[in-house]
Amino acid sequence: MTTLDIQRDVPLAPLTTLVLGGSARCFVRAEDEATLVDALRWAADEGISSSILGGGSNLIVPDEGYDGLVIHMRIADIEFRNGGTVDAGAGVPWETVVDGAVSRAWAGLECLSGIPGSTGATPIQNVGAYGQEVADAIAAVRVLRRDTLTFEELGPEDCTFGYRNSLFKREPDRFIVTAVRFALRPNAPGTIRYGELHKSIGADATLADVRRAVLHLRRRKSMLIDPDDPNRRSAGSFFLNPIVGAAEAERVVEQAVGQHLAASPADVPRYPVGDGKVKLAAGWLIEKAGIEKGTRRGAIGVSTNHALALVHHGGGTTADLLAFADEIRVRVRDRFGVKLEREPRLLR
Ligand code: EPU
Repeated sequence: MTTLDIQRDVPLAPLTTLVLGGSARCFVRAEDEATLVDALRWAADEGISSSILGGGSNLIVPDEGYDGLVIHMRIADIEFRNGGTVDAGAGVPWETVVDGAVSRAWAGLECLSGIPGSTGATPIQNVGAYGQEVADAIAAVRVLRRDTLTFEELGPEDCTFGYRNSLFKREPDRFIVTAVRFALRPNAPGTIRYGELHKSIGADATLADVRRAVLHLRRRKSMLIDPDDPNRRSAGSFFLNPIVGAAEAERVVEQAVGQHLAASPADVPRYPVGDGKVKLAAGWLIEKAGIEKGTRRGAIGVSTNHALALVHHGGGTTADLLAFADEIRVRVRDRFGVKLEREPRLLR
């Protein structure tokens, strides 16, 4: 048994990018797997619940905090092996993985530049941006089973990845991710698939060019954490892009054109995602439901640069944030009959 340094009443807001919410009754840092296991045993002995905190960039902490043990995942080993394999502990900052891959000219993660948070969270929500999803680069995920406290290695097929979804998100109490193995492609060309990226760089762009262009796009949308950006306190996209059947998508398009919210069907952003399903753009729906970028409700607002991000301007509460999110959800439902789902995890 390692010596656990359990702290009491630790404020969680500073450990999240939204900078909101209360304290953890108990708190411990896990810099290795043994400490993680001991921490879980300790919580079980105390009869309290436990939850994992990663980079805090996709997390909403309730105002009342967490009445249990928060385990701050800090396993930070990283190894770049010959042939394009990266082994990264769950606590490695994501940007370290992307930067290391791009600087070695290993393709597969370049479009995922500038995403805040830690590596262990990336398989959970199958992080994706600008034409790449982390699932496409994952070779294995090392997990701790919560029921047996034993370690297992899962292959990508075990993880049942989907759009911002995985086994880990569907069954949050089953596994804790402790490390991820990526299989990248040395000296392969970058992925230049996303419309906006295509427009800004040529087909012969290097991985470093792709990375630079992605960082530029993210900065423009306030999706890069920059201390000088007034929209910096957010959890990125607050809602998922809704995936609907083709008939429902057509109904939304007709409604939008009928209500003069779009000049023609081509002006309603939507993307086929297979199986006859269509992905709608939540940011567009929010704006067209009358919630403009920059709309404020006290300390909480819609980002001035992207309608899908909710921003905490300081001095607010999680209750304010969730109330505004509900208001947005109702507005979109009333106007388009489309249900928006929250993207960041609520700690509980
Ligand atoms: N749009 C608007 N208004 C807005 C924002 C977007 O009308 O304020 C429209 C755009 O014009 C475009 C469409 O919505 O037609 C899509 O916009 P964008 O390319 O900015 O991407 P997104 O669908 O809003 C998703 C991810 C982002 C990721 C980008 C780029 C989700 C929930 N979000 O956003 O991921 O960076 O694509 O690939 O899938 C995150 O998950 O936190 C995140 C930032």
